[in-house]
Amino acid sequence: MNEQLFKLSPSNVTVEAGLSTGPVSVESYISPEHYAREKEQVFRRAWLLLGREEEIPNAGDFVTRDIDVCDANVLITRSKGGHVRAFHNVCSHRGSHVVLKPSGNAGKFVCPYHNWTYKNDGSLVGVPDESSFFNFDKKNCGLTPIAAEVWEGWVFINLSPEPQVSLREFLGPLADLMAGIPYPAAGHPIVIQADIDANWKAICDAFIETYHIPVLHAETIGTTYASPENPFAHMLDARMLGAHRLISTYGNANYAAKPSNKVERLGQDTHSTASVTSCSNDPALVSFLEHPAVNPTKSTSWAQDVYHVFPHVHIDVGPGGFWTHNFWPTSHKTTRYEARFYVPPAATVAERFRQELFISRVVEVALEDLANVARTQKGMQSRAKGFMYLQENEVAIRHLHSTLDKWVKASTVREALA
Ligand code: FES
Ligand SMILES: [Fe+2]
Repeated sequence: MNEQLFKLSPSNVTVEAGLSTGPVSVESYISPEHYAREKEQVFRRAWLLLGREEEIPNAGDFVTRDIDVCDANVLITRSKGGHVRAFHNVCSHRGSHVVLKPSGNAGKFVCPYHNWTYKNDGSLVGVPDESSFFNFDKKNCGLTPIAAEVWEGWVFINLSPEPQVSLREFLGPLADLMAGIPYPAAGHPIVIQADIDANWKAICDAFIETYHIPVLHAETIGTTYASPENPFAHMLDARMLGAHRLISTYGNANYAAKPSNKVERLGQDTHSTASVTSCSNDPALVSFLEHPAVNPTKSTSWAQDVYHVFPHVHIDVGPGGFWTHNFWPTSHKTTRYEARFYVPPAATVAERFRQELFISRVVEVALEDLANVARTQKGMQSRAKGFMYLQENEVAIRHLHSTLDKWVKASTVREALA
């Protein structure tokens, strides 16, 4: 039996992390007032992870993103010099969005309202009928810049006019642990989006605890993440990392698809790891899997790790590479959920088959989770229960609430991070 299974004895990580063991209020899932505080105190002050820089590899590449929780639409560009820059996608003339496409490549951006034209570096270079304006100086009318930084290929922005701490300080111990991970296939995401009737934390919670897996996912991944020797899917490891957190989950090394699951067995026949959480045999995986932050206990019974980058992104790593879950709040009870699976383009029919199998399996599991969180949100909104009870394997949820509480109350970001 694997000794590491029992690393998380009851009240071990929770107590060692200095967290309370009492019930946790559900108010932050249902209160419009709390959501208003999260908008101002968390999302407008934290560094927000947007995606991988490999998604805009060339000079002139751009993406636009709606960030409802900050009432912002953001334009991210790659400059001629290779730098990643971010701007409010808002015209200096009368406030129209300038770029309407979600992504592309352009040297100049032309506003669709009256044709004001901006260069990729944000400067205003064209104003039709310019002489009819009054005391007008184009130099002062560029796009409004947003603080943007790239760390280990991850693109972050900060919507404060002046970020209170550097990205490195914000990431803290998470950056120490994850530095140097060689992410495979980082430029090739398969994206799945859905608008969910649930608070962003309700969805986030569902993807960072394994207690529910043998129950809610009994028909799909229940026997992958649990086994007779670990019936409640206890985790291998959990670490609280400043504002962020990690869980490393158990995987049943003896898992095998039932003989009746002929399609799944065919997919596994073409794959060395036989895990439903992976679909790639990319050679780059060798150094990826050796990194200390990937399967941090180096267990032979490992399914995947979840790194929760506060406030709204999970970076998941597994035997076949990495993927992200993004929980973008759109109101106190709705969320734009986006999953991005980074897999290399299939080189053979067998690889393509395995990827399709993987995606259909992942979507099946995600639908089980997403339907459930919508029900959970309704249950919380009924106010029948004011609190929830969290056990040791739900420690990451408790830590998120503790972190969120600090951020909502703290007058400075440094105080929230202390
Ligand atoms: S609002 Fe953009 S050109 Fe008028
Ligand atoms: Fe789940």
